[in-house]
Amino acid sequence: MTDSEFSRIVDFVSERYGIDLRSKQASIERRLENYMVSKGYKSYDQYMNAVEYDILGMEEQNFIDLITTKHTYFYREPEHFDFLRDVILPEIKEKENATKNMRIWCAGVSSGEEAYTVAMIIKDFLGEEYDAWDTGLMATDLSRKVLERALKGIYSSKQLENLPKHWMADYFTKLNHKQYEVIQEIRKNVMFRQFNLVNPFPFKNKLHVIFLRNVMMYLTEEMKRDLINRLYGFLEPGGYLITGLTESIEPESSNLEYLGTSIYKRPLY
Ligand SMILES: C[S@@+](CC[C@H](N)C(=O)[O-])C[C@H]1O[C@@H](n2cnc3c(N)ncnc32)[C@H](O)[C@@H]1O
Repeated sequence: MTDSEFSRIVDFVSERYGIDLRSKQASIERRLENYMVSKGYKSYDQYMNAVEYDILGMEEQNFIDLITTKHTYFYREPEHFDFLRDVILPEIKEKENATKNMRIWCAGVSSGEEAYTVAMIIKDFLGEEYDAWDTGLMATDLSRKVLERALKGIYSSKQLENLPKHWMADYFTKLNHKQYEVIQEIRKNVMFRQFNLVNPFPFKNKLHVIFLRNVMMYLTEEMKRDLINRLYGFLEPGGYLITGLTESIEPESSNLEYLGTSIYKRPLY
């Protein structure tokens, strides 16, 4: 890959998706190479012409699936789920007791494990009252490929190894000796949608919690600043923004209050 071909990819991805690829040349080459050869592209420029000028956007979608890092697993960074169960959900339950409406967004959800973990925590927490609440959880990602996996809700027994013991019996159906499917009662409460975080958010109402975990580490500084600002505006007063454990938000860049372990709160006033 020539310097100018790499610059072209870096600029395109930064402008369209806010993703920073500047230090990733070797890994981008590795990720694109097989695909380009299989499709008969003779150079990165020829390939990028197809990505940028494909009216149907299919080649662009494949490109996104190739360049994004989608690693995730159930109950990842458990301190966030403990905080959700012990602090956030009791607060929402008290505050929204009259409306019974809970608004949570998992942004950059990848193949669904994060959103299903949240949904199962909510189900555990609400117990008998679960059906009385509208707990519709929005779960979005840029990559269509991971969303297809998320929608299927089928995972291997290995992926479920570290879950609370009763979840396996209560929230999954065994399909065969290797595969388990998330039960319909949980799946119906998670709405998976394709969404690029660069775009205006599709919400009518402000949110109680936003999970933006292990996404910011892939974004440009400009995108991070803009995103945090916009997310702040979409949080309920007293609402929470949770980032990945290795990610942080500069205190001077927003009015969010830092509570520790990558948990931020929009002040009440
Ligand atoms: C490493 S995964 C994180 C999954 C999950 N949140 C977790 O912590 O396990 C990062 C995800 O962010 C998504 N992503 C990256 N840039 C995005 C953007 N501009 N808009 C929406 N999703 C994006 C990727 O497609 C990928 O699935």
